Amino acid sequence: MAQIIDGKAFAEGLRARVATAAVGFEAKTGRKPGLAVVLVGEDPASQVYVRNKGKQTLACGMASFEHKLPADTSEEELLAVVERLNTDPAVDGILVQLPLPSHMNEQKVIATINPDKDVDGFHVVNVGRLATGLPGFVPCTPLGCVMLLKDRLGSLSGLDAVVIGRSNIVGKPMAQLLLAESCTVTVAHSRTRDLPEVVRRADIVVAAVGRPEMVKGDWLKPGATVIDVGINRVPGSEEGKTRLVGDVDFASASEVAGAITPVPGGVGPMTIAVLLRNTIVAAHRNAG
Ligand code: GUN
Repeated sequence: MAQIIDGKAFAEGLRARVATAAVGFEAKTGRKPGLAVVLVGEDPASQVYVRNKGKQTLACGMASFEHKLPADTSEEELLAVVERLNTDPAVDGILVQLPLPSHMNEQKVIATINPDKDVDGFHVVNVGRLATGLPGFVPCTPLGCVMLLKDRLGSLSGLDAVVIGRSNIVGKPMAQLLLAESCTVTVAHSRTRDLPEVVRRADIVVAAVGRPEMVKGDWLKPGATVIDVGINRVPGSEEGKTRLVGDVDFASASEVAGAITPVPGGVGPMTIAVLLRNTIVAAHRNAG
């Protein structure tokens, strides 16, 4: 049976290190590291994320600035809020919660964030820095996945890694990070021919496709390390109830894999912890 990779415990440890760093930053500069989160509209899942971010930011001894704007806010008004945060010396990191309402151009909004406050790592400048190996901000979820992999495996050099999914938020930055760790990287996606055959070559499988329980145990190389980024809500066994599952069929995969992240409690808790870690890095860089 596979070992379970406990992302919840790892994230708690990371937040403890962030809290210590926040105390050090305040002693040095006389202010707390600050994270601003902008939420437009009332999407229920986004409201939950933003509330958790705010709580964890405060729990780590950092300053939290929340900007909640109505769904009918104009793009111009949102851009003005972002520009104010760009020049606010109390704000080290800026996160605009996605998705934005459909009347807004997400790329234009992200492009307005100062790249040195872009703790999500979504700005093209940070995408380019990651691709060229320059210091910058890396998207939180894939960075959290690499932290879990290195904690479990040590050096990743020379390992065969398959990333399933090619999104800008997870798949593509994940592939860049694994390449930077000297893995041999394959990016698979919905048009990939014979996905099970591709996955069977991999020492490391990162599943980020958003398809419930798609990756089966008999696709895996025995002993592979499996990172499941999926969070899918599916009907539960009882009428009217739902349950969370990943993109990996945990029951069959955990019989073949060497180690695997569970859903929930695997990758999920890492994202906010890495966001706070990125904010500490931003604070130190911006305080120069
Ligand atoms: N929506 C879902 N995940 C994320 C994330 O990591 N960052 C932002 N800004 N929005 C999201």
